[in-house]
Amino acid sequence: MIEVGIEKIGFYTPEQYVSMEDLADARGIDPNKFLIGIGQAEMAVPTIDMDIVAMAANACEQIIDEADKQLIDQVIFATESSFDYSKAGATYLHEMLGIQPFAKVFEIKQACYGGTAGIQMACDYVRLRPNRKVLVVMSDISKYGLNTGGEPTQGAGAVAVLVSAEPKVLAIDLESTSLSFQSFDFWRPQYSKVALVEGHYSTELYLDLFEHVVQEVQAQRPNVWEQIDALYFHLPFTKMGKKALDRLLAKGLLDEERYASLLAHYESSAKLGRRVGNIYTGSLYLSFLSGLVYDEKLQAGDHVGLFSYGSGAVGEFLTGTLHEGAFTQAIRDKTLQQFEQRQAISVATYEEIYQDTLPETGVWQNESSSQQPKGYYLAEIDKHRRRYGYN
Ligand code: CAA
Repeated sequence: MIEVGIEKIGFYTPEQYVSMEDLADARGIDPNKFLIGIGQAEMAVPTIDMDIVAMAANACEQIIDEADKQLIDQVIFATESSFDYSKAGATYLHEMLGIQPFAKVFEIKQACYGGTAGIQMACDYVRLRPNRKVLVVMSDISKYGLNTGGEPTQGAGAVAVLVSAEPKVLAIDLESTSLSFQSFDFWRPQYSKVALVEGHYSTELYLDLFEHVVQEVQAQRPNVWEQIDALYFHLPFTKMGKKALDRLLAKGLLDEERYASLLAHYESSAKLGRRVGNIYTGSLYLSFLSGLVYDEKLQAGDHVGLFSYGSGAVGEFLTGTLHEGAFTQAIRDKTLQQFEQRQAISVATYEEIYQDTLPETGVWQNESSSQQPKGYYLAEIDKHRRRYGYN
């Protein structure tokens, strides 16, 4: 069987962030609740002109070259913060990035799991057509509302992956284990601008699904489980990954030695998420990227497991093997440069940006000419049609 998986991976996060210490002070909460209890240090804040399509284009731009554009057969856009009930975010990307015209473009939704669904579809497509490639992009803005329990777990960003039969970063195994369970732990009815969430129940459900999925992996594919060197998690807030490992230890599904080793890998994988917040569909792949950037114990040939969770609810456990391309300086540099260039904003500015809305008249012009973000951004809306600019 040919190897397929991630050939390239790119990430984008907005240029502004608010410090969680400042947010805690403004809300009258002990900062350690956010820093330690939830595990978040900074939260990305997107301006009104950095929507999910602009963020996605900025992530894709980092990884695809002219040759890729001719070989990409599908552009799959995973999101749960779409601004359109009909037209897919991928339609804009297809034009903005100059992908060959005969490609298929569409959007996928299943909460934070949508990106994994897209990657799995892409792998299956490429297994049958090893000369072609699929671009999968996950882009989200996470919003629970000012002064709510979910507020410290907001964030924004996009992860793009190019799936091909040259998996220079990660070869993904054909077999995976998934589990679904109808629930209302986190959802967003059409009439609501923010997600509705049963916070503590959602955390418990995540842990229950993770535990059951791991039990199934251990029963069905014990050799695969034993070989895993590092685990990556969907991290709605970074403490979640530690909770998941603690659950396995408490249930006797890990011994102390393996727990300590996986915990060390998890700590590297949580570093970027700690500075971005929840990016829903892209969150698991941001954890993976963080591991590539910070984890000095990882090497080519290591076997890894990825736990994807999407409220509502689906869990899927993927496995794969790291390749040399996972450890290039370019991946590290491109990722870290963005953090060096970010600007800290006050809580008052964050609240102002948060409440900024686009008019429902369908006419809007981006007038912040001196402050437009670098790369792609929303330039105007004309007759309800979004148009993007590039800086
Ligand atoms: N110092 C250190 N730790 C402190 C502290 C202090 N001063 N004060 C509190 N803490 C700790 C608490 O002990 C607690 O730790 P444990 O979870 O280990 O017990 C932690 O900080 C959080 O405290 P609370 O549970 O009291 O916090 P909360 O009631 O404000 O809710 C939350 C936290 C449920 C995560 C809430 O922010 C939320 O609803 N977030 C959105 C939902 C979410 O992210 N769910 C995750 C699973 S669903 C999913 O994965 C899909 C998705 O992306 C949304």
